[in-house]
Amino acid sequence: MATALSQIGRPEHRAERQQRIALVGFGTVGGAVARLLHDRRGHHPLRVTHICNRNVTRKKAGWVGREVVWTDDLQQVLASDADVVVELIGGLEPAHQLVRGALQSGKSVVTANKQLIAKFGRELQELAEAHGQYLGFGACVAGGIPVLSALQDGLVGDRLVQVRGILNGTCNYILSRIERAGVSFPDALAEAQQSGFAEADPTDDLDGHDAAAKLAILARVGLKTDVATEQVTRRTIRDIAAIDFEYARELGCTIRQISTAKLLDGKAYLAVEPSLVAMNSPLAGVSGSQNLVVSTGEFGGETTFGGHGAGGYPTAVAVVSDLLQAAHYCGCAAGADRPAIAACEVESDQEAPQYLRFVVRDRPGIIARIAGVLSRHHINLDAVLQKPGHEKSALPFVITLEPCRQSLVESALQEIAKFDFLADAPLRMPIVQ
Ligand SMILES: NC(=O)c1ccc[n+]([C@@H]2O[C@H](COP(=O)([O-])OP(=O)(O)OC[C@H]3O[C@@H](n4cnc5c(N)ncnc54)[C@H](OP(=O)(O)O)[C@@H]3O)[C@@H](O)[C@H]2O)c1
Repeated sequence: MATALSQIGRPEHRAERQQRIALVGFGTVGGAVARLLHDRRGHHPLRVTHICNRNVTRKKAGWVGREVVWTDDLQQVLASDADVVVELIGGLEPAHQLVRGALQSGKSVVTANKQLIAKFGRELQELAEAHGQYLGFGACVAGGIPVLSALQDGLVGDRLVQVRGILNGTCNYILSRIERAGVSFPDALAEAQQSGFAEADPTDDLDGHDAAAKLAILARVGLKTDVATEQVTRRTIRDIAAIDFEYARELGCTIRQISTAKLLDGKAYLAVEPSLVAMNSPLAGVSGSQNLVVSTGEFGGETTFGGHGAGGYPTAVAVVSDLLQAAHYCGCAAGADRPAIAACEVESDQEAPQYLRFVVRDRPGIIARIAGVLSRHHINLDAVLQKPGHEKSALPFVITLEPCRQSLVESALQEIAKFDFLADAPLRMPIVQ
C-alpha cells in the first residue's frame, strides 16, 4: 500500500476518532468553516461542538446542528472537551490569551490570524510543542493558497534563499484600477472601499503593515529566519499616480506592491514596497484579490504559487486542511522533525535598479542639476523619459538608474528634494528583476 509522502518520518497518528472542534469567531471565515464542515460531513472526522462569538444570540444559524453549544464565553471553550480550538476572531487580544489558554489546557489550535502569528508565533509554537499539541496557521498567509505547507513540507529538501510575492489584495486591486482606468489614487481607493475591497481605515494595507506580517511568517517558515514585523522595511503605495504606470509601460513594466524576503551573505533583507515589475513576470499578471508567491531555492530554482489570497471559503479551505492535519497528528510534537529557526541580522539596504519620478516647474538645466547630485553619489543613470503633453508648471519625467544601493539613492534624493524647481516630492521605486 502506498504511504502518503507527508507521513514519512512522522510519528503514527492517533486512531481515527471524531475530533471535537470549537470555533471561536463566527464571522466571514468562521461562518465559512462551519458551513464547509457541515456540507462535507461524512467525508472527514471533524465535528463542531462549540461556536463562540460575542453577543452570540444574533449569530445563530438554523443549518448548524442542534447539538452544537453556542456561547459568548471564551472560558467555557477553554473548559470544554474540545480537542481543537479554531481562533477566528482576529487581532492580538483576547486572541493571544485564548490560544495560550487552549494550548496549556491540552487542546490543539488552528488560527488564520497573521498579526498573532507574526508577533507571537515562536512563543506559541514552543508552547504547543511543550504541551504536545498542534498549532496550525496555514490560513495566515495568502488565504486559500497552501504556500506555507508547501514551503514547510514540499520544499523542505531545498535551501530557500528568497520568497517574493503579492500578498495584499487591497493594494493589488487599487494598483490594477489605476493601471487599467488611469484614475487617481484617491479615486481608486474610494472605489475599492465602495466595492468592499478596502476597509474604512486602509492604513494597514496601503502602508504595507498587513503584507509585512505575512512576510515575517513566510520568512520564518520558508527561510527559517526569525524576523519581527517591525524589522520589515515598509513603503506606502499612496504616492503612486497614473503617470507612473505610463512610464512603467515605456520601460516594459507595471507596478505592484511587492513583498520580498531574501537571505544574502548571512543577512536577511525584508521589504514591502511598490515596485516596477517586468510585464513578462508572473507577478505582473496578478489582479484583484489574487495572491502570488514565488520561492527561490538554491537547488530547485523558482516555484510559483497562485490563487485566491482572501475570502471566506478560500480561507476556510486552509483552516479545514490544518484541522485535518491536527486530527492526524495531535498528541505529537508537530515541529520535532523540522529544521531549527534562527534569529538573523536584518539588512535594510538593497542593491537594485531604480525608478525615480520627478514633477518639476520646467526651466533649463534641471536634468543637469539632478544628474550632478546623482553623479556625486556615484550613481549611474540608465535612461531619461519624458512624455509630451504636460503643463510646464507640473512637468513629470522619469530617470532610471543602474543597480545601486537604495541608501545611496535616498541620500541623493534628500539633496535633490531641496531644489526649488520641484513641484512635488520625488518618488523612488526599485525595479524588480
Ligand atoms: N476574511 C478573509 O478573507 C481572511 C483571509 C485570511 C485571514 N483572515 C483572518 O481570519 C480572521 C477572521 O477574519 P474574518 O474576516 O472572519 O473577520 P470577521 O468577519 O470580522 O469575523 C470575526 C468574528 O469574530 C467575532 N469576534 C471578534 N472579537 C471577538 C471577541 N473578543 N470575542 C468573541 N468574538 C469576537 C466577531 O464578532 P462581531 O460580529 O461582533 O464583530 C466576528 O463574528 C482574522 O484573523 C483575519 O485576519 C481573514
